[in-house]
Amino acid sequence: MLKELSVNFGNFLLSLSDAIDLASSQIASHQMRTAFIAWQIAKAASLSKERIENIFIASLFHDIGALSLEDKIKIHKFEEVNPETHCILGEALFDSTPLFAPAKKIVRYHHRPCHLWGSIVASPDAIDSQILYLADYLERKINRNQFILHQVDDLNDKITSVSGNLINDDIVNLFMEISCREDFWLDLSSSRLYSILLHSGPFRRSEIDYDNLFSIAALFRNTIDFKSRFTATHSTGVAECAVMLSRLFGLTDNEVKQIEIAGYFHDLGKFAVPNSILEKPDKLTKDEYAVIRQHTYFTYSVLNTIGGLDHISEWAAFHHEKLDGSGYPFHAGSDKINTGARIMAASDIFTAIAEDRPYRKGMEREKIETILKNQVEHKALDKKIVNLLIENFEEISSQVKEKQLVSREIFEMKFATIKHNPHRFNGAHNA
Ligand SMILES: [Fe+2]
Ligand SMILES: [Fe+2]
Ligand SMILES: [Fe+2]
Repeated sequence: MLKELSVNFGNFLLSLSDAIDLASSQIASHQMRTAFIAWQIAKAASLSKERIENIFIASLFHDIGALSLEDKIKIHKFEEVNPETHCILGEALFDSTPLFAPAKKIVRYHHRPCHLWGSIVASPDAIDSQILYLADYLERKINRNQFILHQVDDLNDKITSVSGNLINDDIVNLFMEISCREDFWLDLSSSRLYSILLHSGPFRRSEIDYDNLFSIAALFRNTIDFKSRFTATHSTGVAECAVMLSRLFGLTDNEVKQIEIAGYFHDLGKFAVPNSILEKPDKLTKDEYAVIRQHTYFTYSVLNTIGGLDHISEWAAFHHEKLDGSGYPFHAGSDKINTGARIMAASDIFTAIAEDRPYRKGMEREKIETILKNQVEHKALDKKIVNLLIENFEEISSQVKEKQLVSREIFEMKFATIKHNPHRFNGAHNA
């Protein structure tokens, strides 16, 4: 029997923010550094605790709507022609999660310049979004290869030059008060920023309950899956298959709940894989395959360092391990692969081969069964679990497809439409 989860909320948020930005050294910790700046300004403005927390959450995930690594880098370098798209997608993602929903407007308007706020320029929505605007703008102007204190004058000039036009004067003034402190800049550029925010930042003493953990995991499931049309329902399918197999296997309700979360998170490390590789129609090169293979390592390191998610991190991250030790990244072998991880591995293969991929169509039952049996023969998958899957094929397959259909509709109706036509959504979202 598993004990109830005990997870620090601050650590959970910081780790997930980091996960999104681990994709490239060019954007590493961008959202966390932005959150630090925004948090400092919000404190200097003496905003309420609730507003400070919302600004912090919005900042930690403000670019969550930039689904591909390529988009993230373009936005970071001020190259994105239309930054609205990722703001609208970000708002839609935040809206699906009760703990994040109060911060959705800040994400929606984090690229809206001051002069476009018009008569409501002093409203809380405008102020909170403008704090994030400044923080994000500043973070992207910092040269990461130069000592930070040597850049302060130049950065101050860059911010004052857009005061009153892009950024509200009052917020620029608050920033200038903070900017005279060396500790602000040294914390911001410190490799220990994660620890600093963990021990001194908002949420340092709060725990996250199961329902909120679940809903944030579902938000991440969509963010990971919606990176590509081909994987748009993958984690939904894997989680559902794993839940059904766990019940059939006789795991406890508590274990089944945690395996669902593990299914949502299993490909978390795919934030580190560019879409050009994920969607490549041809065979991957050895080097490209190496980039793919790091995803389960990152899934493990992000989840495991949060603390309190031991089973979830292992069940999520071991889905490419094989019983004969030839899997990756741990080469764990049968004595180290427990039941939850075996279920996840079978669920991942079952779901993946039934789905369309850029290089092939989804497979039919006969072919799927042949592949699964083959994997058992080659000591990759667990025999008992594969037999359970085959014995209950119809029921599992139809339940998985039903869940995937719901995710597919959300993806097509909301995300694919917004991505290709953001202006259709602009009017309805004006503050
Ligand atoms: Fe952004
Ligand atoms: Fe950003
Ligand atoms: Fe995977």
